[in-house]
Amino acid sequence: MKYQLKIIIGSTRPTRKGPIVADWFLKIAQQHPNFDVELLDLKEINLPFMDEPEHPRLQKYTKAHTKKWSKTIDSADAFVMVTPEYNFSYPATLKNALDYLSVEWSEKPMGFVSYGGVSGGTRAVQELKGPVTALGMMPIPQAVNIPFFTQFINEDDVFEANEPLEKSANLMLNKLQNWSKALKNMRKNVAD
Ligand SMILES: Cc1cc2nc3c(=O)[nH]c(=O)nc-3n(C[C@H](O)[C@H](O)[C@H](O)COP(=O)(O)O)c2cc1C
Repeated sequence: MKYQLKIIIGSTRPTRKGPIVADWFLKIAQQHPNFDVELLDLKEINLPFMDEPEHPRLQKYTKAHTKKWSKTIDSADAFVMVTPEYNFSYPATLKNALDYLSVEWSEKPMGFVSYGGVSGGTRAVQELKGPVTALGMMPIPQAVNIPFFTQFINEDDVFEANEPLEKSANLMLNKLQNWSKALKNMRKNVAD
């Protein structure tokens, strides 16, 4: 069984490093036998600040960008957010992307790849768990946290991970698969 995994790049600033980290994780995820993987770059998706008149739970979307985002997220079974840490938290772009929708996120698992200085982005991940659980998602505890992450980026802007990082990425993907299976069954049974 293959599950649809969407990897979301959270940073959008011009000189961002997020895509370098995300490309490394993407390659590992693509080797996983149980996931079909798609990379979603919030810079390309370019959502404006949330501009829908109704609560997202009602799904009465009025804007083309919301309808497109809804379709993209609805088709997923699992997510991984690739997040930097901005001022001990996560970037506003991620909150905005979450706030646009409700039902589409609900009862699906979320994993995290975080990067930063000494914290490895762990404070960003902790703060993300608030809105993620409010949306009815399962933020899984296994994560990839990368401290002093620039040490892993070579002169060609390629991320060269060490063994512990590779291991944590694979462990997270395996757990994410378990949650994908369980929650997909749960969504199916509730619908029956
Ligand atoms: C607005 C801003 C706030 C930051 N705050 C933190 C922080 O709280 N903790 C941390 O470890 N790094 C922080 N940094 C440094 C980031 O880890 C580093 O710039 C990283 O490259 C940001 O990810 P990005 O390049 O994908 O945007 C901050 C960077 C920016 C631009």
